[in-house]
Amino acid sequence: MDLIKDFKQAGQEHVFKFFDKLGKPEQAELLKQLEQVDLSELERLNNELVFNGGTAEKNINFSELKPAPYQALPKDKDADPAWAEAKNIGEKAIRDGRLAVFVVAGGQGTRLGFNAPKGCYKVTPVKQKSLFQVFAEKILSASKKYGVRIPWLVMTSQVNDADTRRFFSENSFFGLDKDDVIFFSQGLMPAVDKNGKIILESKGKIAMTPDGHGGCLRAMCRSGALDELKKRGIDCISYFQVDNPLVNIIDPYFLGFHILGKSEMSSKMIPKAYPLEKVGHFCISDGKLTVVEYSDLPAQYQQMLDDSGKLKFIAGSVAIHILDRDFVERLGRKGSELRLPFHRADKKIPYADENGNTVKPDKPNGIKFEMFVFDALPMAKSPVIIEGFRGDEFSPVKNAEGVDSPLTCRNDQKKQFARWFKSAGVDIPLGENAVPLLDIEISPLFASNEEDFVKKWGNLNPKPEIRNGLYL
Ligand code: UD1
Repeated sequence: MDLIKDFKQAGQEHVFKFFDKLGKPEQAELLKQLEQVDLSELERLNNELVFNGGTAEKNINFSELKPAPYQALPKDKDADPAWAEAKNIGEKAIRDGRLAVFVVAGGQGTRLGFNAPKGCYKVTPVKQKSLFQVFAEKILSASKKYGVRIPWLVMTSQVNDADTRRFFSENSFFGLDKDDVIFFSQGLMPAVDKNGKIILESKGKIAMTPDGHGGCLRAMCRSGALDELKKRGIDCISYFQVDNPLVNIIDPYFLGFHILGKSEMSSKMIPKAYPLEKVGHFCISDGKLTVVEYSDLPAQYQQMLDDSGKLKFIAGSVAIHILDRDFVERLGRKGSELRLPFHRADKKIPYADENGNTVKPDKPNGIKFEMFVFDALPMAKSPVIIEGFRGDEFSPVKNAEGVDSPLTCRNDQKKQFARWFKSAGVDIPLGENAVPLLDIEISPLFASNEEDFVKKWGNLNPKPEIRNGLYL
């Protein structure tokens, strides 16, 4: 059999160790799994990342690193000619049906300790809506406002695909047309041991792990999602992560700057909240725009000040991008010359012992390979970065407690709503750290930004009382 020969030639014949002991269906399953492995890619990754232990980041010369320039946020966006022009262009593009939104939701939410797809996690302060519902309502609200269909791409992984789809159908797609929700699964990569050998998880199964959110570029092409966008005349894709309910997914200013700049990939930056905040950093390395992860940037650089006493590397990447459809195609099509690099992550990978019984290791024993979507930035033509306001853009749920937890996220949502009320002339009482003392929540279906809220609230007659809290 060719497959067996290929694996033998690649020094990976041990995956057939228990083959003869398997029944016909298990043999077929294993062969199906092995067919998905790109042996030449694996050999390259073993040489680059396993045998040499190197990663892309290690090639960065930190002393040459510069902060990336960005379009700074003015006090009043509409009074600023560049921002006002961007808004016009962006709104026109949305109305013309050029935009799709895209959530990467293949991760496992391990840090949060939540045993279901992370998008099902209940986040809002009053109605306890799930992350998926919040995003769906933002899409519905923009569809109505601009009179256009806005398709939503949802990337899952093999682990959570069925549960994610079930959650959407049990909730009637939160009012969206189900033809406008396009699910696809990200790819898998074999995990290897420290000698570059594919790990056998059980007698008839190799260990395969998700290929990182950067796998979305290949997955969009392979799944046909990109062709579907092409068919619908969509050329701009608004990319965001599943953990951040504040994200402004349909942002005409951002889209306008992306279009005006003829950018292939644009990003939003938020000034870091504190020097060691766990976010990526927008930098210029070797003349190219690059995101350097907090885990790769030495602390002295994360804390470095510029001549004016401000943080030198202040531009935090909050994983909000706009991707040009043709750019995704250029990077993600099978056989394309450009491709994202892989990163190495050392993990605990269950493995089959001598007798084929699965053992769960208590320390990292294997290596998984992942791609990061922001690694596409150095390959993009004319990338654009604009500044966003944290309070209206970013409060992720990552940890069960402490920073970036369900509590901080609920508080940040309430703070945002209180700010909108204040702009509309209503003072919500605030407690410690300016957290509203009342439980307030504004559905994106009522208003999804301050400007729309002030208008809508102004027109409400009679206005509801806000005695013990309010849901609008
Ligand atoms: C990420 C970014 C970091 C950014 C921060 C902002 C990386 C490596 N780092 O950190 O630069 O500042 O978010 O919140 O991404 N996902 C998949 N498939 C995968 C892996 C992840 O779809 O195989 C999705 C997750 O569902 C999630 C997102 O990618 O929506 C981020 O993954 P996560 O591992 O939580 O990234 P962070 O370490 O928090």
